[in-house]
Amino acid sequence: MTIKSIRSVKNLAGKRVLVRCDFNVAVEKNKIIDDFKIVQSLPTIRYLISQGAKVILLTHFGRPEGKKVKIYKLKIIKPRLEKLLGKKVAYAEDCINAKAKSAVAKMKNGQVVLLENVRFYKEEEANERKFAKALANLADVYVNDAFAVSHRRHASVAAIKKYLPAYAGLLLAKEVLNLNKALRPAPPLVVIIGGAKLETKVPVIKNLRKKAKVVLIGGMIAYDFLAAKKWSSGRYQVAPAPRRLAKKLSYQNVILPVDFVASDKSNGQGQIKVVAAADLPAKMWQLDIGPETIRLYARYIKSAKTIIWNGPMGMFENEHFKHGTMSVARLVAAVSSGKAFGIVGGGETVAALKQTKMTEHVDWVSTSGGAMLEYLAGKRLPGLKKIIK
Ligand code: 3PG
Repeated sequence: MTIKSIRSVKNLAGKRVLVRCDFNVAVEKNKIIDDFKIVQSLPTIRYLISQGAKVILLTHFGRPEGKKVKIYKLKIIKPRLEKLLGKKVAYAEDCINAKAKSAVAKMKNGQVVLLENVRFYKEEEANERKFAKALANLADVYVNDAFAVSHRRHASVAAIKKYLPAYAGLLLAKEVLNLNKALRPAPPLVVIIGGAKLETKVPVIKNLRKKAKVVLIGGMIAYDFLAAKKWSSGRYQVAPAPRRLAKKLSYQNVILPVDFVASDKSNGQGQIKVVAAADLPAKMWQLDIGPETIRLYARYIKSAKTIIWNGPMGMFENEHFKHGTMSVARLVAAVSSGKAFGIVGGGETVAALKQTKMTEHVDWVSTSGGAMLEYLAGKRLPGLKKIIK
């Protein structure tokens, strides 16, 4: 595999470099609560500044669905980016029109411009060529540093590469190199998959379970596996489609929880009890993996040489139901950096890991969720074409 890195481009001084970043950060009450994605983008931006390039930053933020939505304007990102970068950043309140063109025309070497949210145009998600060309007209070189959105066939990730020479940013290259270690893992490989939406996890489970000693299941998707076994899924109604998917995934090395922490209220505010997985009472919800399961999963995690974790084990935002997720987070962090090569990805999963204050113990914390799952499923991501060969 070869990566066409931006480092391989000579004479970047004075060149207009359009960098597709992923600044799709978590926001609460108009405040950024996690700037991890911005922090991880800094090495590429700093490198380009040091080379005297004119650095044009482009990103999506939220899902405004082709409309100019106030809460998704990038004016919230700009001050944080400036603070982290230690440098003024110009802000163009559009990404293709006269505002964008004039902001770029005014740039001096080593300066940075942040363009407005690319998803304010419906043409972005439609991967429209004309729109991609308009973006490309702003620059001489294109850099994809947004691995986290590289599974989307969108104009600023896919079509744009028809119109500009395309390179990998430093973060994108690191994501690919680290995830490749999971695709060619040092055995034993232990894969931990939780969260919801089984359909998004099927390809990765199918691909990795062939290489893995075990795939450990937790979170909402555990319900689908209970239904596939014709066990009670308590108050939760499993639809036929995920039940069928879970049935197809019921390989010997796909390991289900043996017990749960359950509640008679879906928000966990009611009666709480530890129950056997085969015996989830009809009136209860499983909201976390139970103590026996934690012990079982701990044994597997401690035996691993490579670990991949995506998806929480339960409702970890609630004190009573966070122990499964936090135990997995601590175990993964504790065996990473030495004993095993540990990879953690996905917004909620990384948020849980951060609560342990052990993030830096993990070998690779991905900025991506969906893209990581697709890459590990062996799919070719549209954003990587022409860049990773
Ligand atoms: C993410 O947060 O996973 C990426 O930014 C992709 O966002 P999307 O799921 O809205 O395309």
